[in-house]
Amino acid sequence: MKTEKSTQDSSVIISRVMLPEDANPAGIVHGGVIMKEIDNAAGVTAVRHTRKICVTASIDRLDFHKPAFIGNLITVKAGINMTGKTSMEIGKC
Ligand SMILES: CC(C)(COP(=O)(O)OP(=O)(O)OC[C@H]1O[C@@H](n2cnc3c(N)ncnc32)[C@H](O)[C@@H]1OP(=O)(O)O)[C@@H](O)C(=O)NCCC(=O)NCCS
Repeated sequence: MKTEKSTQDSSVIISRVMLPEDANPAGIVHGGVIMKEIDNAAGVTAVRHTRKICVTASIDRLDFHKPAFIGNLITVKAGINMTGKTSMEIGKC
């Protein structure tokens, strides 16, 4: 039986179809909705790795190069980049 924990064991891929409540009147998805999806995927990764309650201390810069629209499928991939003493850095995997 495997007892060691690899950082890959905590990686997640989370997808969600964007709905009207996620968007502005022009049908463009709010940046905050996308940020929430990213934060959620990072949070799930952190909990899978630690099995404890985790909080987000900081998020790196985020640029939106193209709009997402109602009906688009947003997919977020998250995995652990590195672990510290009590902290983790989570990025796209
Ligand atoms: C994040 C938080 C727990 C850090 O508390 P703190 O008293 O500064 O903790 P410490 O100084 O002991 O640092 C703990 C670890 O967090 C890391 N850390 C603290 N602030 C950080 C930041 N802004 N960015 C990255 N890492 C950070 C430290 O480097 C340390 O890492 P290590 O244990 O691996 O060496 C605290 O600031 C907090 O509760 N913030 C609010 C979080 C929140 O509500 N998020 C939104 C909801 S999830």
